[in-house]
This record gives sequence, structure tokens and C-alpha cells, in this order.
Amino acid sequence: MFKLNLDIPDFLNTYWQKKPVIIKNAFSHFADPISADEIAGLSLEEMVDSRFVTNKDAQWTAQHGPFEESFFDTLPETHCQLIVQACNHWHSETAQLIEPFKALPHWLFDDVMVCYSAPHGGVGPHIDQYDVFIIQGQGKREWKVGAKDVGQYTEVIQGGALRQIEGFDAIIDDILLPGDMLYIPPGFPHEGTTLEASLSYSLGYRSPTEQELLSHFADHTIANDLGNHHMHDPDLPAQSHYGQIGNQSLTMLKQMLHNAMNADDVLNTFIGTQLSQSRHQMNLIEPDPEYRLDELNDLLQQSVSIEKVPGLKALYLEDATEQLFVNGECFTIHSDDKALLSLLCDQNAFNSDDIIMSPQLETRETLLTLINSGYWYIA
Ligand code: SIN
Ligand code: CO
Repeated sequence: MFKLNLDIPDFLNTYWQKKPVIIKNAFSHFADPISADEIAGLSLEEMVDSRFVTNKDAQWTAQHGPFEESFFDTLPETHCQLIVQACNHWHSETAQLIEPFKALPHWLFDDVMVCYSAPHGGVGPHIDQYDVFIIQGQGKREWKVGAKDVGQYTEVIQGGALRQIEGFDAIIDDILLPGDMLYIPPGFPHEGTTLEASLSYSLGYRSPTEQELLSHFADHTIANDLGNHHMHDPDLPAQSHYGQIGNQSLTMLKQMLHNAMNADDVLNTFIGTQLSQSRHQMNLIEPDPEYRLDELNDLLQQSVSIEKVPGLKALYLEDATEQLFVNGECFTIHSDDKALLSLLCDQNAFNSDDIIMSPQLETRETLLTLINSGYWYIA
């Protein structure tokens, strides 16, 4: 278990999306949950997103995984970094790092990225559109953070793929030791340089842009065949200017768009499905053969642990309806079984004994689909 020495409500008030900060000794006696060898092992896997970055003599290179095992036979001793995204999806001890941050909502959370850096390794000065908590594990790294980007920085692409900026003046310049943590809000340039071979853990939080919401909302209306009707105006007046879009038509067209955006139920379902999509692959555990409903009913009568696949996003709305959003889909939980929403969404696992009454058929069918889809599994 990782214990974070930080008052999250205070942190949110003072720093969240406002200013960067280093929290020394954020974790007392920090022990790395994963080793450099295990990270290298993950970077061999097809399903895992990884990068290897070098910067010898200020020449940047970036390669994407998956890597061959032999790739790691001849690694440089300095000036390189191996980055593996979403390690929490594949390595349960690394996933434990998320636990102390659960006062921040799951829908904002992206992943735990783990970096192994050799001395002098890094990815150079750059700007992210993420909130990130960078926890220092073994080793030692110097971190510089600059003032918020308001257009003053010049972007450069290095090594064909690395997005960097030319440079920045530091407002923070400090050395992180094991257990220290750096928080960087979106838009603040930063650069980590490795002093001693290091492991670091970046917990990323990412909110959607308006552009993404609008474009995905359009996809949602198409997928659900919503609003597939034309504007009709039986009271169309004759007009003397052929090329003109009359005010009456303009108002009606805009009203169509406003109506689409004002359909509260549609928006709720869209936002729930949208936010429950993970941006990284997951290790789904699909039963073979699939369970039948009667088998699941029998299992629920016994005391079994029902566990959520790491990284799976399961969400519900504060004014909970019967909707459960999982991995971009919307499922029904009967209104009598609402307590199950919290068991499924707020916890990594629950025991079938925690389900106080026998769930309604509709709910049991949802559970069956979730388990047969590999989203939850019976441990
Ligand atoms: C790094 O650890 O160098 C990359 C992490 C980041 O800058 O977001
Ligand atoms: Co960054």
C-alpha cells in the first residue's frame, strides 16, 4: 500500500490546474512497485504502448515498441529512456499507485506511465496537455518547470517524432529523490534530466477538449440514429433574393442544433459512454466457455470475489439513473439494484456477499454480459 503525505482538498484548492509544485517526501520509504527489467518485459508486448528515446550528443532519436528481446542486449549506459504507458493495466503492484489519488475522479484519470531513465536520459523540454503527478522512484532526477504557455514558446520536432520546445526559463528547478513528487498542470513546459539511473511514475489526468466532445457527439448521434431528420418549413415565404439564407430558415437551422444539444438524456448517455472509454488497451479476461445465466446465479449465491480488470473505466452519474457506463457502452442496472453501481464503479473488486438482495433479472443479465465480455472476472 502506498501512503501519500498530501491533503488532497488543500492541494486541489492551491495547485490543481493553477501552478506546479514539488512535494518532497510525498511517499515515505517509497519502494518501487516494478523493476526496470519488468518494464523492458512489458515493452516487448504487442498490446503495450512503449517508446525508447535517446539523446546522445544532443541527437534525439525515438523508437516505438513493441521491441524484440535482443533490443535490450546492447543498450547504451547513458542518455536513454524507456517509457511504457498504462503499466497499471498490466502490473497490479503499479496499479496500487493510483489508490491514494482516488479523491480525483476516475473519469479524468488516464494511466500510469513508467519511465526507466539512464543517467542523462530524458525526453527534452516539452509541454503536455495533461495534469501529471511524477513520482520519483529509485535514482535521482533534476526537474525544471517553466511558466505557463501563453504562446511564448517555439515548438520543434526532434528525431522525427519527439515534440519539444526550444527552451524555457525555470520557475522550478530541483532534484527529486525517491518518494518525492512533482505536480505539473497542463501547459507548463518541463524537462527531467537524469542524475542517477531512475524509475519514475507519471500519473496522467486528461480532460476532453470541446472539439473532441463535439466530434464524438456527432459520432454518437450517427451510431444511435438520432436526429436523422431534415429541417422542413411548410411556411416558407417567397423570397426576392435567390442567394439569401433567410432569417426564418437560419433560426430554424440553429434551433435544430440547439435542440440536439439540449436533449439532456442524450447528452448524459453520450458523456457517460464517452468518458468511460479507456485510451489504452486492457488485459480483458474473457471466460471460455462463457457463463450461462443460471451458472452465474449459482455463483452469486456463493461467496465469490468479483474483480474488475485493471484500467477498466466503469462510471455512473451522480444523480444515478439505471445507467452503468463501461468501456464506451451503456448498460442497465435495475433501479432496485442501484447499490451495485457503487460496487462496480467505485471499487476494484467486491464480494458476491456484498450484494444484499438477489438482483433483478435485468441486472443479472447486465452482470452476465460484463463478465462474459471479460470486464469483470470471478477470482
Ligand atoms: C519523463 O519522465 O521524462 C517524461 C515524463 C513527462 O515529462 O511527462
Ligand atoms: Co511531460
